[in-house]
Parts: sequence; structure tokens; C-alpha cells
Amino acid sequence: MSEKARPVGALVSAGSIGIGWAVVFARAGHPVRLHDVSAGALARAADAARGRLEMLAEEALLDEAPGAVAARITTSPDLAQAVAGAALVLEQVPEKPELKRAVFSELDRLAPADAVLASSSSSIPASVFAEGLAGRARCLVAHPGNPPFLIPVVEIVPAPFTAPEAAGRLRALMEQAGQTPVMLRREVRGFVYNRLQGAVLREAYCLLRDGVISVADLDRIVTHGLGLRYSLIGPFETSDLNYRGGLAEHAERMGANYAAMGAERGQNDPWTPDLVAKAVAERRALLPLERWEERVAWRDRELMALLRFRRARGL
Ligand SMILES: NC(=O)c1ccc[n+]([C@@H]2O[C@H](COP(=O)([O-])OP(=O)(O)OC[C@H]3O[C@@H](n4cnc5c(N)ncnc54)[C@H](O)[C@@H]3O)[C@@H](O)[C@H]2O)c1
Repeated sequence: MSEKARPVGALVSAGSIGIGWAVVFARAGHPVRLHDVSAGALARAADAARGRLEMLAEEALLDEAPGAVAARITTSPDLAQAVAGAALVLEQVPEKPELKRAVFSELDRLAPADAVLASSSSSIPASVFAEGLAGRARCLVAHPGNPPFLIPVVEIVPAPFTAPEAAGRLRALMEQAGQTPVMLRREVRGFVYNRLQGAVLREAYCLLRDGVISVADLDRIVTHGLGLRYSLIGPFETSDLNYRGGLAEHAERMGANYAAMGAERGQNDPWTPDLVAKAVAERRALLPLERWEERVAWRDRELMALLRFRRARGL
């Protein structure tokens, strides 16, 4: 049977993430089975998924009728039935290590031997909940944004014992489903998405505490400034395009200033010459300096298109 025809057993239904994944994989053509220990959660799941599919259709983001996609989603109070024949099993139980450990032990017992078992955990690495399992080589984390059908990025986080083949299959399934998988090279607390979010949020709280800015104005700096640009280019590319000469020039001119801001918060992680050279080498492989002007013009055009869209929506 092709991977697409095989079910994706998304375990938790009433939770935002379980329903979100159900929408993602049903939209991509997979049969999806939702399981939950709560009968109420299961009973609400079909309507919840349907509501989200209807909204997607209203925004012209669905290629089929919402009913046709919703029909691929079924529910089961029986875990063994939910995971039968599945190519991929996604777990979304509450964020408690002992609960994840218990659920993964059941999954390893019940799921098909070739199924990939992935947790949506925001912070618990697979080495914490899958270490002792016979099938640990197929276990890893697939950390989504919320909701996954609107925030496509998904962090794939293998444990040291995860087989590269399992990570590769998960990545391929996510890509086929229209997600944007990103592979972490090793486990790290909070993974990358939440570390970045945490860095911004920690500084936001400090600035609020120190009476520098209001909550509303701080959020405005992100929605009308940093975030507007970050939806097109990330922090490395932003710095690369902000200075003629690229990232090397940016680090030369701004590195000491950023180091001083970090030191004010007790952080001592200067951008050393070796580190800057590594970042510059990766950027230059992506964008040779001869194409810098062209890329700056592209950024400006895309920002104009975004501003036109925001103006039309009254944002
Ligand atoms: N909400 C977010 O923004 C977000 C983002 C990314 C990742 N996550 C992660 O996704 C996971 C779930 O988050 P959520 O917000 O969907 O949680 P939620 O509390 O909304 O849903 C959890 C669901 O798990 C069910 N459940 C509890 N024990 C179970 C068991 N043993 N077997 C089957 N179902 C069980 C509950 O009945 C409930 O429906 C967590 O690991 C969380 O860290 C959440």
C-alpha cells in the first residue's frame, strides 16, 4: 500500500494539536484516525475539524470540498484500532514525561512494526520517553507550530538512538502533506522554535519590568516591524541584507553592540570570528554577494505585497 493510502493515527482529538494534525493529513489525502481517552473529546473532534476545514475553504486554502476532506477523519476509542495499518502515529497527550513514556510504550506494542512514532511535544525529547523501548529507533519528536494547518513549520528532533531512516520518512510524509519540516541535528531543551520565541519573550518581560515600554507597544514593534520582515526572511538573512557587504559587515559593525546588550542580561555569548565565519560561509553559499542587490529588491517587493494585503484587511 502507498504511504498516502495508509492512515495517520493522530492520537489526541480534542486538543488543538490533535485536531490540527488531523486537518493537515486529511487535507493531504490520508485517512486519519483520532483516538482519545476522553469520550467527550472524541465526540467533539469531528465538528471541530470540520469547522477548521470550512474556514480554510472560505479563505480559498482548500482544494476540495470541506465535507470530502472531513470524511477521511474517523475516531476510535480503541488505541489498537486507531493505529492499525498506520504509516505514521502522532502523539499529542499532555506535556508530562511519565504520560508520554506510558503512551509510547503502548504505541510500540500496538503500532505496525514499520510505523514511525512521533510526539508533538513542545519540550520533552524522545530520549526521555522512548529510551527503554524495543522499537526506540523509530521514535522521535515532530514539534508543530499551533495550529499546524496554518503554521507549516515542524521541527523534527531525532534522539541519539533514532534511525536516520525514520527521521527521513517523517520528513517526507510532512513534506507531502504540505508542511515545512526542519531537521534538528541534536536534542536541545525547548527545541529551536521555543528557544527563539523564549529569547524574544524573556527580553520583552525585562523591558516591561524596567518600564521601558507598554505591552501593546512592544507587540506593535513585532507585528509592524520584526515580524513583518521575519515572515519573509529570518534573522540571519535580515542581518545579511541590512548591510552592504552582508553578514560579515553586519557582525563587524553591530557585534559589539549586541554583545553589550547580552552582557546587560548576564549573557556572555559574543559572536567570535570563527562563529561569524561559519555563518557567513553558509549565507554566501545561499546568496553570493553579486546577487545581494537583486535579493534586497526582492525583499522590498514582497514587503510591498504584504503591505497591500494588510491594508486590504485593515491590519
Ligand atoms: N497547544 C500548543 O500551542 C502546542 C504547540 C506545539 C506542541 N504542543 C504539544 O502538543 C501536546 C498536546 O497539546 P494540546 O495543546 O493539544 O493539549 P490538550 O490538553 O488540548 O489536549 C490533550 C488531549 O490529550 C488527551 N489525553 C490525555 N491522556 C491521554 C492518553 N493517555 N491517551 C490518549 N489521549 C489522552 C486529553 O483527553 C486531551 O483531549 C503537548 O505535548 C504539547 O506540548 C502544543
